[in-house]
Amino acid sequence: MAKNQSDYFQAKHPWSETKDDLLACYLTPFFTKVYRPSRNGILYIDAFAGAGLFADGSKGSPLIALSKYFAIAKKNRSKTPIQFILSESNAESRKHLESTFNEAKGASGYIKPPIIVSSCEDAIRRAQQTSVCGGGKPSTVFYYIDPFGVKDLRLDLLTNSPNMAHTEALVNFNSFGLFRVACAAMKVPLSLPNEVELPEDDFNELTKASVWVERLNACIGSGDWKEVVVRYKAGKIDAWQAEHALSELFCNNARSYYKYVTNMPIKDMSKRVNVGGLVKYRMIHMTNSPDGCVLMNDNMIKRNLDRQCKQLGLFAVDVDGRNVETAVIAAKASDFVQHMPVHQNMKMGDIAATLISECGVFDRSNTILKTYVGPMIEEGVLERAVKFTLKGKPKKSFALKDEVYRAR
Ligand SMILES: C[S@@+](CC[C@H](N)C(=O)[O-])C[C@H]1O[C@@H](n2cnc3c(N)ncnc32)[C@H](O)[C@@H]1O
Repeated sequence: MAKNQSDYFQAKHPWSETKDDLLACYLTPFFTKVYRPSRNGILYIDAFAGAGLFADGSKGSPLIALSKYFAIAKKNRSKTPIQFILSESNAESRKHLESTFNEAKGASGYIKPPIIVSSCEDAIRRAQQTSVCGGGKPSTVFYYIDPFGVKDLRLDLLTNSPNMAHTEALVNFNSFGLFRVACAAMKVPLSLPNEVELPEDDFNELTKASVWVERLNACIGSGDWKEVVVRYKAGKIDAWQAEHALSELFCNNARSYYKYVTNMPIKDMSKRVNVGGLVKYRMIHMTNSPDGCVLMNDNMIKRNLDRQCKQLGLFAVDVDGRNVETAVIAAKASDFVQHMPVHQNMKMGDIAATLISECGVFDRSNTILKTYVGPMIEEGVLERAVKFTLKGKPKKSFALKDEVYRAR
């Protein structure tokens, strides 16, 4: 069913609150982590920025980010400059955004006057040319990409930041929207269940299929989406499986540019109750930092438990409700360790981030380390770099910064 978005900024839907919580709760540890090391400043791009404030007074994504930054800056005497680049295509929303953002920003000099433009492409282009301070490339870059559908989403927008090693992205990926366009492009009939609502302006039936093929390739980063449609047409997978497969494709393509990619469905919990809610879209996080991956994983686990789990089942499941394959994860952990150089220290967080990126979001990082790294320490395959606490007791912690090395 097509959904008109004209009332979007009246009040937030419960699933939009889940999405906003995911961003808000990540930005506090993220800004804390990058604040001091970012000597050349931070560049924050919100490419589908919206109106700033909703009619009911709740904060939209740019004001959420600004308030989180203020809170961290307040705790630090020396100030790290930040440049916000915001884009919003709707002229009225853009005007509202400009006034609400500037009012919230106030006179603070370390928060540069925002660059506000009308298209996401322009925002990304400006980001590639903007230095925050000192004339050099920004120390840290964060993209927040929150479109209504997939029309303006392109993976390549996120692969050319001025400092890829220190870039993170959080993307709203409308996998059902993408599936609908993919079926139309290949002239495969699709009847989605009525409860699936898709943005109405995302898809124009008159547009030539060849144009959509090009757009889809750019959106997802390859042409592999066609195989998903072929499998759907042959009855080998259903629409729900196709939605999941397309999001996995996008994540895999993103892994060519970002070492760690995680993915969490955002659900309407009032629908499809018997299968754990209706997937509205997915939030996909990309980073080259193991700490960033682990922080987002723990954030996703918490948001999912708080807002998307009505009851805990008998078996451990990941954020997608799929059974956790402990033997597969243990084999991946063992394989990772076998490829570590002997006697070279590695942070436990690096091992956790690799397992999360490869196996999905299924547990808190601390529990992952206890479950999969703990036995390898007991067997003597891994040894702790620091074996005793300051009080002389054997170290037993599984903190991200704890180091281990391969002993044999
Ligand atoms: C889902 S809303 C974003 C909501 C926002 N992140 C918030 O939390 O308030 C998507 C926004 O993107 C805008 N938009 C659509 N196409 C755009 C484009 N090509 N460039 C920039 N903004 C666009 C829409 O007008 C809409 O306000």
